[in-house]
Amino acid sequence: MRDAGPAVTTIGPSRLSIRWADGTSDEVTARWLRDACHCAQCRVAGSGQRHFDPADLPAALSIDHVAMAHDGTVVVDLDDGHQAHVPARTLAARQREPGPVPWGAQHLGVLQASAVSAQGDLEPFARALAHHGVALAYGLPVRAGAVLDFAAMVGFVRETNYGRLFDVKATPDPSNLAYTAAGLPLHSDNPYRDPVPTVQLLHCLVAAPTGGETRLADGFRAAATLATEDADAFDLLTSTGVAFRYADAEVDLTARHPIIELDDRGRPVVVRMNNRSMQPPDLPATQIDAFYAAYTRFARILADTAAVVELTLEPGWVVAFDNRRVLHARGAYPANAPRHLQGCYIDIDAVASRARLARTTIT
Ligand code: OGA
Ligand code: ZN
Ligand code: ZN
Repeated sequence: MRDAGPAVTTIGPSRLSIRWADGTSDEVTARWLRDACHCAQCRVAGSGQRHFDPADLPAALSIDHVAMAHDGTVVVDLDDGHQAHVPARTLAARQREPGPVPWGAQHLGVLQASAVSAQGDLEPFARALAHHGVALAYGLPVRAGAVLDFAAMVGFVRETNYGRLFDVKATPDPSNLAYTAAGLPLHSDNPYRDPVPTVQLLHCLVAAPTGGETRLADGFRAAATLATEDADAFDLLTSTGVAFRYADAEVDLTARHPIIELDDRGRPVVVRMNNRSMQPPDLPATQIDAFYAAYTRFARILADTAAVVELTLEPGWVVAFDNRRVLHARGAYPANAPRHLQGCYIDIDAVASRARLARTTIT
């Protein structure tokens, strides 16, 4: 049986009220209904792409009659003579999707329990990555390049100056501190890149005998904590542009963004933290110390042990995380120890699409 859909009633000649099942309500205008029409004249069947331009719609439209079809489509007779058919899913899209569910150290259990075999169905992996920003898989061949084959089953690989595939192991004379045995504090990768890589995969080929732990923290949760505990610091980190830069013999990459980037609804969408590549802020002297205080506060919240998931990757395991949301760190390991990870970046759009398709199939 279908869930009870929203109830619709007209209020005045050109407005419709939608009362959602959770008791909240929302209003749309006649022009919105005309725009949202999915009839064969207005939209391409299948993809729903518009044939018209909303800029060409009449400014003044009135609703003559409203009815709800059995499948939840709202059928609206408008005074320009058009009968608008607004599918239930188009109406439902107005209702705010719940935001990402924040997590802390206790997420380790969920992460491990939801780990999937790399040889099996990767849909749960895509869903975990889309919803929690982190996912684990095991059973990849312990072979160089295997992470690229795995990545191709989840999305599309993003090539950078580090290659399609990068080796994370200690090398003599490294240009990037990732390629040493040193610990790396919580960071996001490549904030000097525009756009920033969205998903990072790390595949373990050889684990260090000791150390080399992987630590992960939910940057969106840390941002919410900062907003609650220190609103001024939050305002500073969301409004102050900071330059990140990476330059070596071959490239000179730089991008300037706030540490915490918000969307139009004030929700965090990207966290950029990287002590290696963040440039000293180009702020007036009167604001510099406040910036460092806010940055320090945020770094402490991120690194709080109650906020950090810690695990040690074993050969054949791969961890994937949303590099816009989840910060990662590495514990130091003994110099000259034979540790070797391989990594790559993929774009999250294909992953999110897969998670969305899974959701619509289930419901
Ligand atoms: C990196 C990185 C983590 C690790 O290469 O960017 O963070 O565990 N590596 O070596
Ligand atoms: Zn139409
Ligand atoms: Zn990294």
